[in-house]
Amino acid sequence: MRGKRVLLGVTGGIAAYKIAYLIRILKKQGAEVKCILTPASSDFISPLVVSTLSGNPVAIEFWDKKTGVWTNHVELALWADLFVIAPLTANTLSAMSLGSCDNLLLATYLSMKGKTIVAPAMDLDMYAHPSTKRNLLQLEKDGVSIIPAESGELASGLEGEGRMAEPETIAAHIADFFTIKDLAGKKILVTAGPTYEAIDPVRFIGNHSSGKMGYAIAELAASRGAEVILVTGPTSLKVSGNRIQRLDVVSAREMLEKVQQIWATCDLGIFAAAVADYRPETIADEKIKKKEETLNIELTKNPDILKWAGEHKLTTQVLVGFALETSDLLKNGESKLNSKNLNLIVMNTLKDEGAGFAGDTNKVSILDDRNNLTSFELKSKSEVAGDIIDTVMKYLC
Ligand code: CTP
Repeated sequence: MRGKRVLLGVTGGIAAYKIAYLIRILKKQGAEVKCILTPASSDFISPLVVSTLSGNPVAIEFWDKKTGVWTNHVELALWADLFVIAPLTANTLSAMSLGSCDNLLLATYLSMKGKTIVAPAMDLDMYAHPSTKRNLLQLEKDGVSIIPAESGELASGLEGEGRMAEPETIAAHIADFFTIKDLAGKKILVTAGPTYEAIDPVRFIGNHSSGKMGYAIAELAASRGAEVILVTGPTSLKVSGNRIQRLDVVSAREMLEKVQQIWATCDLGIFAAAVADYRPETIADEKIKKKEETLNIELTKNPDILKWAGEHKLTTQVLVGFALETSDLLKNGESKLNSKNLNLIVMNTLKDEGAGFAGDTNKVSILDDRNNLTSFELKSKSEVAGDIIDTVMKYLC
């Protein structure tokens, strides 16, 4: 979002207090932010908070009653790359759908040549009302994108649909708007997270994988226009992005089953899961009681999911695997690239500080089957996801 100009319109609903956080996220991501408040919204959030966080004066009225200085709504609309109205009240929604313009925010909306995105917020019955639905439909017809309200506790004390989408969700929609859709039309399979292999009804063999790398790849690919199927082992992560289908699995064999159902329909596979190589030969029906001093569990090899995908790869498909090593990174990576019939392998070593599968950062090298090797610096996992996808794009060209 670096250098992108976001004009933020705030209308008079209780969710206006969350806008401070949205401005912080946008500024952190490098956007320039200017804000318009409706007179009613300044009862919910102070213009001082908004101007301080955005680093720009706040526009509320058509003209300043003390100085007589006019606020040029046309200039504001021309300045903006994107107009975001959050929260959008039922009242402003109705005015927008009619094309009314009795305040600065509405006049700016009518002057806006670029895109407008809105995040409605109101009580559940207002949100469910036929006139609200009709007005939202009209806005969509007018080219406005709508971030649907979420379900949860409302200011009235009732529970239901009507809460403004969280600032992180709104920020993700804004980032999505600014992201080039160079993966549009591509279907991508991503595996992520650990697998858990049951020992008995309460215990399992697992690993420390957080799933962060795979999820970052899935989210980035979706924001670049791909249709993503994320097959994930157990993690505490949530996925944001409306082009991601998430399929939850627990064990390696369940992951394989999903991959076998999907792989043939995909253009690209990125296998970031930390699959358990072995599982207990038998799963005890009852909880195993502690009796002896030692306990032996017989393990049997799990199927190699990536290898299966490599064996069933069409010439049009691209397959990317991961190699986490503790020694001989390049040699082991190269051997996995060949033995699993991959096009690219993303290699990292636990010896590099900040690399690996539990933290927020990673340091990777990518080797392709034409023997090109690219090494990257230590970066956040979302930046690493960008490097991986950029390298895949170069490979595709
Ligand atoms: N992988 C997989 N299924 C498995 C094991 C691994 O799909 N049963 C995938 C991982 O998602 C990763 C790649 O294979 O993309 C490399 O995994 P890794 O554990 O490093 O390699 P292994 O082939 O298991 O070899 P080793 O454990 O001997 O290093």
